[in-house]
Amino acid sequence: MYEIVARQDLSETTYLLEVAHPQLARAARPGQFVIVLSHEQGERIPLTIADFDGERGTVTLVIQAVGKSTKEMQQLCQVGRSLLAVVGPMGLPTAVNDVRKVVCVGGGLGVAPVFPQLRAHKNNGAYTIGVIGFRNRDLMFWKDKFARYCDDLIICTNDGSEGIAGLVTDGLAAAMKEHDDIDEVIAIGPPIMMKLCAEATRPRSIKTTVSLNPIMVDGTGMCGGCRVSVGGEMKFACVDGPDFDGHDVNFEELINRLRRFDSDEREAMDRWSEQCRLMNDG
Ligand SMILES: Cc1cc2nc3c(=O)[nH]c(=O)nc-3n(C[C@H](O)[C@H](O)[C@H](O)COP(=O)(O)OP(=O)(O)OC[C@H]3O[C@@H](n4cnc5c(N)ncnc54)[C@H](O)[C@@H]3O)c2cc1C
Ligand code: FES
Repeated sequence: MYEIVARQDLSETTYLLEVAHPQLARAARPGQFVIVLSHEQGERIPLTIADFDGERGTVTLVIQAVGKSTKEMQQLCQVGRSLLAVVGPMGLPTAVNDVRKVVCVGGGLGVAPVFPQLRAHKNNGAYTIGVIGFRNRDLMFWKDKFARYCDDLIICTNDGSEGIAGLVTDGLAAAMKEHDDIDEVIAIGPPIMMKLCAEATRPRSIKTTVSLNPIMVDGTGMCGGCRVSVGGEMKFACVDGPDFDGHDVNFEELINRLRRFDSDEREAMDRWSEQCRLMNDG
């Protein structure tokens, strides 16, 4: 059992949990993820380690309530309660060597998982440019946390309520216009955003790393559920990734595979909503 020692609601749908897990906090590296089971009847869900603190012995998860499990966790996961299982760290850590200038792009929820990579590059002596994007100012989080580790920070909002009006791809274009010596771009967010970032950097052949989020089941390379095509080869995101070269990823296939379980997920959500309604009525 892993106690939830802090919680912050970042918006109506996004919440942060800080979980006590000293062993994991010591072992975690940027780019890695965990598989979480909140209770015995729950579903195993993969979540990126958004922060880790070896001294406090905690890891931080930032979760968007999109379906049955993440909405249920939004209700149940309060401070003082515990998660039944938190397995990890999983996946290959991000390589930070030899990068002198890096742009870390986070779109929406992707802002959280890109943070440990930004911090690792800054601590390694790189010049760091952060590009973070939200639909509007009310949904923005971690501006100050990013500012501490960024030489330049570009904030983008769709409606222009904070920073520049536009998408993170506009922020990335601004950074590329200003700097002609970028060694690497790291982009984390929805697949379409990562695809567009990779397309933006392709003409200048800037190394572009993306973090893929296919459906995962066991997280150990055994089930094949997380297979993705990269450079024409089949890879398992859980053990070969989740970071890959964005110029080689077949994003269309990833997007189609993510839609495969739409109707099952809707049914699970409907069943759970009905149970909640009956409990509230009763
Ligand atoms: C490596 C990795 C890291 C991730 N990190 C985060 C994170 O830090 N924060 C966060 O909020 N979400 C993260 N996700 C996505 C998260 O796992 C899904 O949102 C969650 O499993 C949805 O479960 P649900 O029951 O609430 O929704 P459902 O209704 O079951 O699904 C909603 C959508 O979530 C995705 N999804 C569903 N089940 C899985 C699964 N087993 N594995 C992966 N995706 C799934 C699908 O796109 C689906 O359409 C990550 C996924 C991966 C693979
Ligand atoms: S989740 Fe099963 S092989 Fe990756």
